[in-house]
Amino acid sequence: MNRVGALIYDRFLIGASQQAGLAEQRRGALAAASGEVLEIGAGTGLNLAAYPREGITRLVCSEPNAAMRRQLEARSGEAPLAVEVVTASAERLPFEDASFDCVTGTLVLCEVTSPAAALAEIARVLRPGGHYLFLEHVRSADDDQARVQDRWAPIWRRVSGGCNCNRDTLATINASVLTLDEAEIGRFPKAPKIVKPLLIGSASRRFA
Ligand SMILES: C[S@@+](CC[C@H](N)C(=O)[O-])C[C@H]1O[C@@H](n2cnc3c(N)ncnc32)[C@H](O)[C@@H]1O
Repeated sequence: MNRVGALIYDRFLIGASQQAGLAEQRRGALAAASGEVLEIGAGTGLNLAAYPREGITRLVCSEPNAAMRRQLEARSGEAPLAVEVVTASAERLPFEDASFDCVTGTLVLCEVTSPAAALAEIARVLRPGGHYLFLEHVRSADDDQARVQDRWAPIWRRVSGGCNCNRDTLATINASVLTLDEAEIGRFPKAPKIVKPLLIGSASRRFA
């Protein structure tokens, strides 16, 4: 996300989607968050109001982009408890192994440099039995639509400031050390067709 994108994100890039159902989808995706929770790529903090009001004992939000992080800090009062804001990329999380019960991420794996490295880090910081909750826009399961996504991907990456519309995130999760528990395909409301398919679900770190 570039600086201009960060400044217009809430109002112009995601605002209509939020109102048309994305806010509700966030609540659903995060409903099982509990214990010590880490959010990766927390952006402007649109998930803060979507976390369950009970059951979370610690909430750490990591975000590498300074312009996004400032908005996240300004919004911290919407969270169910005090938020710790940390500067970090998902591929290099500044936490000890097995330090969280839950890791969350929404609309992030489309933008990280390496989704596989981010998932390895998520698995590393999760405690055995801990959960990764995700909501990501992904590559379409329809071959024709996926080809359209491939064709538009370079242009979309430029106009969106780094978003990849054609990543097969489900395959990347399945290839990671995490175990997929639940996944459903939804639709990103009020979004262009190439970013419509939403993958919503959870994966867990197995007990050793
Ligand atoms: C489309 S925004 C989504 C923000 C927020 N998660 C949401 O759901 O509204 C993508 C976010 O990923 C962040 N991001 C980009 N590269 C990242 C990386 N390598 N690690 C973690 N976050 C990253 C961006 O700074 C931005 O905040």
